[in-house]
Amino acid sequence: MESPGVALMLWALACLSGPSTGFPNGKVTEHFPKHTVEVNVTEFKPGDRVKVSLSGPVFEGFFLQARNAENLEGPAIGSFALADRKRSQVLTCGRVKNSAVSHTSKSKKSHLDAYWIAPRDAPKRIQFLVTVVEKFRVFWVKIPGPTISQPNIPTLATPVVTEVTVGTSLPVSHLTQPFSASDCGSNKFCVRNPSDCDPGARDCFFLSFKRDHVDLIVVEMSGPSDGYIAFALSHDQWMGGGDDAYLCISDSHHVDIKTASLTGRAYPEFDSEPALDEMSWRLADGLIQCSFRRRIHFPALQGRFNLDANYYIFMADGEVSEGGMIHKHYRQPLITDGKFNVTGPAKDIGGSRSPLLIKIHGALMFVAWMTTVSIGVIVARFFKPVWPNSLLFGEEIWFQVHRALMVMTVLLTGASFILPFLYRGGWSDQAGFHPYLGCTVMALAIFQPIMAGFRPPPQAPRREIFNWLHWSTGTTARILAVVVIFLGMDLPALNLPDPWDTYTMMGFVAWHVGTDVLLEIHGYCLIHKGTVTNLYFSLH
Ligand SMILES: *[C@@H]1O[C@H](CO)[C@@H](O)[C@H](O)[C@H]1NC(C)=O
Ligand SMILES: *[C@@H]1O[C@H](CO)[C@@H](O)[C@H](O)[C@H]1NC(C)=O
Repeated sequence: MESPGVALMLWALACLSGPSTGFPNGKVTEHFPKHTVEVNVTEFKPGDRVKVSLSGPVFEGFFLQARNAENLEGPAIGSFALADRKRSQVLTCGRVKNSAVSHTSKSKKSHLDAYWIAPRDAPKRIQFLVTVVEKFRVFWVKIPGPTISQPNIPTLATPVVTEVTVGTSLPVSHLTQPFSASDCGSNKFCVRNPSDCDPGARDCFFLSFKRDHVDLIVVEMSGPSDGYIAFALSHDQWMGGGDDAYLCISDSHHVDIKTASLTGRAYPEFDSEPALDEMSWRLADGLIQCSFRRRIHFPALQGRFNLDANYYIFMADGEVSEGGMIHKHYRQPLITDGKFNVTGPAKDIGGSRSPLLIKIHGALMFVAWMTTVSIGVIVARFFKPVWPNSLLFGEEIWFQVHRALMVMTVLLTGASFILPFLYRGGWSDQAGFHPYLGCTVMALAIFQPIMAGFRPPPQAPRREIFNWLHWSTGTTARILAVVVIFLGMDLPALNLPDPWDTYTMMGFVAWHVGTDVLLEIHGYCLIHKGTVTNLYFSLH
């Protein structure tokens, strides 16, 4: 069933109650329905197939059934067979199987046929009743259709029907156009990603809060997704810990609006009844849109936060599998860069999908393994003869520079290394090989200065072994570090623009390799000219 919401409500209104009675919050007006039900017979016998046609002004939903004309409060009679399997479905009303026909989607229609099959124990007269949802909140409830009877039975007068406007608590497809950002910052509090994007655009995530009454807030959310979009209010920058979440879940041409508590990194705990009003939605152009109204204060309900306080706001999107099961967001959620009071002064803010700690982690690692380490190696490899006779603080200049740069590399790596652990609060299972290789690089980076500290003097026979170990450990660390950076760049937490991040990084690697090769060639030429001694190629 594609639209459980309206179908369920129609079922409740039409299946259970008698005609035109007892509609909750109903505003009864004096209009007459414009929809009609027609049949191709006036008499029937048990087992007969009767063609029933519903037509009239464009409608979205309907619910058709037959009842005993002398007891309209009684159960549904007979069963239906479908003439239009795409747009209609049979439902079970009471205990009688297939005793009602309803819509499958809220697509606009003006005509629909179905076949009614008279049961063996049919009453003398039956009457068709139809409930029609013309549009949002306009229902024609229990429009009496024709009465048909078994042979030789006089017909009955038909009861009166009324148009009923029902205040529904179920989400309905009511929105007709993308949300507007024109009030953002002046009249409503907006979060947009990318900043200042148009909520109708294909890549725009939009969330707004607008005060409706003293104690009511209208929330609008839209974003590109074919699964779900969601936002959550949180006291901290980590999801979980009872965060207050609102999800708009697309379920084959229908959107469910749900509230949930996020505890830990587990599946959200959905509330059975979202305490929201005026839920409506729209699916168009690859965007999910939904809006609802909620009270600012929720003293009684667990899980909902009061809106007049400061929160971090998260926005996420992800996929939904068959059956409405939601999947974890496949990219990093958007997080506002501070706590905000959505009921306070109207603001128009952006946010970031990349946490600051992770950005710093990436930046420091990049500086360490693309800059300081490379210069340090080049200095040790090619700059020994540049200042052959001058010392700096009692050591040769190339060595001082090399050591300073390498110590800086290790310090930068160490400082940067702890940031993801701080951000995740532990080990991340979702980063693939990146953390494993990263730890290897960290270990090599720590091992390298320790080994250098215990190096044998330049003339010692074991010096050769040290030279090779020092070189191979360093080179392994550098190569691994480049691999780790490539892996890390594509992780969602950094949210870099694919594929240009990879190309840029390739450019850097090419530049470094190219520089090394050029310097090697240069050095080789110098040796052949005999302008430098072997000192040039010996390590300190
Ligand atoms: C009414 O329609 C049904 C279903 O198409 C058909 O079986 C039946 O013969 C029709 N009856 C008349 C009188 O046309
Ligand atoms: C949030 O804004 C509302 C309305 O201006 C105000 O009443 C409330 O005190 C604010 N909350 C905080 C924590 O600043």
